Amino acid sequence: MQQLNLLSLYFLFLLTIQQWAGTSAQAQAPAPAPSGPTNITQILEKAGQFTTFIRLLKSTQEADQINTMLNSSSNQALTIFSPTDNAFSGLASGALNSLSDQQKIQLIQFHILPAFISTSQFQTVSNPLRTQAGNADDGKFSLNVSTSGNQVNLTTGVDTTTVSNTIYTDKRLAVYQVDKVLLPLALFGTPASPAPAPSKPGKDVPTSSDSSAGSSDTVDTSAAHDSSLRRLGVATRVTVGGAILAAISLAL
Ligand SMILES: *[C@@H]1O[C@H](CO)[C@@H](O)[C@H](O)[C@H]1NC(C)=O
Ligand SMILES: *[C@@H]1O[C@H](CO)[C@@H](O)[C@H](O)[C@H]1NC(C)=O
Ligand SMILES: *[C@@H]1O[C@H](CO)[C@@H](O)[C@H](O)[C@H]1NC(C)=O
Ligand SMILES: *[C@@H]1O[C@H](CO)[C@@H](O)[C@H](O)[C@H]1NC(C)=O
Repeated sequence: MQQLNLLSLYFLFLLTIQQWAGTSAQAQAPAPAPSGPTNITQILEKAGQFTTFIRLLKSTQEADQINTMLNSSSNQALTIFSPTDNAFSGLASGALNSLSDQQKIQLIQFHILPAFISTSQFQTVSNPLRTQAGNADDGKFSLNVSTSGNQVNLTTGVDTTTVSNTIYTDKRLAVYQVDKVLLPLALFGTPASPAPAPSKPGKDVPTSSDSSAGSSDTVDTSAAHDSSLRRLGVATRVTVGGAILAAISLAL
């Protein structure tokens, strides 16, 4: 009996060591070289919580273009508004998928300004801001700033968000966190008569993706995500339990 206890303790110990080794290896992931060209993907990866935006930057080739611009001798400067993963899961589901590849590029470019804007410069910029998505003259890619004290809001005509954090800044690049995806009128503008809001209390979903309206729009992706996480958790516990059982039966 004592032997059995010792053995299962030993296996538990091994499991713990393994887990500890796993997490510490993650924590000690190779530090990015401090010098070298600016790498937007690396900056956002380091900041965490921007996986969807990173994926879109890559799939639209915008990440490469940003890095090339910042590594060129042209002195091109950029300001990037980076929506969090929560911002993307706050979109009506299907909103992204209903966009063509070209529209996805426009959506990402709408989050990029061809100029460096420091936090204090937001107070004095003139509206509308020019974005990489194109000319704001027709109002379709309009992005306006309003400030009050240190608070900076961005308004697209579809939604409004607050610049909530500075992620990175150097002489040529400023990256700010925003908690909503900036939805340009050109892609998400509502038709004249707004559709009745789907009954989803408390969720700030733009009534925009009317073109993609349908049963799929009622699927809550964040809930699905949660439950799959929970399932993962259960699976992990089962595995650990199984290992302990195996340890015990080995000892018998
Ligand atoms: C930028 O960083 C990402 C992730 O760290 C890496 O995969 C990519 O190769 C880097 N790009 C360049 C041009 O160094
Ligand atoms: C940055 O620019 C230098 C000089 O033009 C070039 O040699 C280097 O390959 C570039 N690096 C990246 C990651 O584009
Ligand atoms: C910014 O937006 C928030 C929330 O929509 C609002 O309460 C606040 O008054 C706005 N501030 C400015 C300066 O527009
Ligand atoms: C942005 O500001 C310009 C100039 O003040 C104004 O004409 C335009 O309607 C504004 N657009 C939005 C979406 O607020």
